[in-house]
Amino acid sequence: MFTTTDFIPKKYTATIESGNFEWSAPSNIALVKYWGKKDNQIPANPSVSFTLNNCKTITKLGFEKKPNQDNFSFDLLFEGKPKEDFKPKIQKFLERVEVYLPFLKEYHFTIDTQNTFPHSSGIASSASGMAALAMNFMSLEKALNPEMSDDYFFQKASFLARLGSGSACRSVKGNVVVWGNQTNIKGSTDLYGVEFPYTIHDNFKNFQDTILLVDKGEKQVSSTVGHDLMHNHPYAERRFAQAHENLDQLITIFENGNLDEFIKVVESEALTLHAMMMTSMPYFILMKPNTLQIINAIWKFRNETQIPVCFTLDAGANVHVLYPENVKEKVLQFIQSELVVFCQNGQYICDEIGNGVIAI
Ligand code: PMV
Repeated sequence: MFTTTDFIPKKYTATIESGNFEWSAPSNIALVKYWGKKDNQIPANPSVSFTLNNCKTITKLGFEKKPNQDNFSFDLLFEGKPKEDFKPKIQKFLERVEVYLPFLKEYHFTIDTQNTFPHSSGIASSASGMAALAMNFMSLEKALNPEMSDDYFFQKASFLARLGSGSACRSVKGNVVVWGNQTNIKGSTDLYGVEFPYTIHDNFKNFQDTILLVDKGEKQVSSTVGHDLMHNHPYAERRFAQAHENLDQLITIFENGNLDEFIKVVESEALTLHAMMMTSMPYFILMKPNTLQIINAIWKFRNETQIPVCFTLDAGANVHVLYPENVKEKVLQFIQSELVVFCQNGQYICDEIGNGVIAI
């Protein structure tokens, strides 16, 4: 396992003047949710997620040595056009990671980024975006230090992505990724995401996630504010303990493939996340009436058909519908005939479990 000091490089053995790299990184959907953090993006509880396959960010990083090394210097393009409002977030990221990437002020960067999912769909692009950017910086670091091991390369990328946006550290490598220290999961750490190291039953192979876009509007409360409200939250300590218990349960469920038990943990996690929002001070609600319509329709359908389909929620109104591949046709039919009416402009995105970043 690496520590923070392992990620502070000693000396680079190579030099590079200019060039470019390009990576894609997927979004991920948490089963046990990260909600609440300590300083330096350390999670208050461990989480685990499925890596997605289709919802991703593709980022190209151009770099060129510059004479002056006093400041960070970068241009940001989103879908081919300059995007000033994304710049402060990147600037903050560069400041946070500079100690781990001491070459950052030596170059002028052009960050050219795009998403495969519609912008302002309510799907957070911070996880895939920060993971893709971190990969590019690691490619540059590897060019400066060609002896770097693969293990270090991916785990430091996840470590850097975490400093950009917590859940981004789960978007680097593996189908099922754990972030946060959990006694029963070997290698798990608060510092970066690791591939779930134990057996995963075939029931979870090619697991499907259809994302129903209920509300594409700007969230009233950002995740940053939401995490912060877990400080002095009346139920915080119990919630953090519950996340550990649920993650332990998932270890068994991943092994034995028990979908009924899987559904109980996953749906309870989603509702607990939103219960934390409703019981913080100030309190807030991110679900919309159609979120509840969908949840009720899923429960009714599951009851009537015994098809193991369930939902989870992020910090927003959209619903992720999760189900095994072998019931795909029936569930998609159900979504089209009964759930699409609750989606904004009838929009939904079909995704499934994926493997992580790809070099382009
Ligand atoms: O990574 P952040 O700070 O945007 O927080 C994401 C939190 C949830 O999506 C609600 C849960 C999770 O674990 O992804």
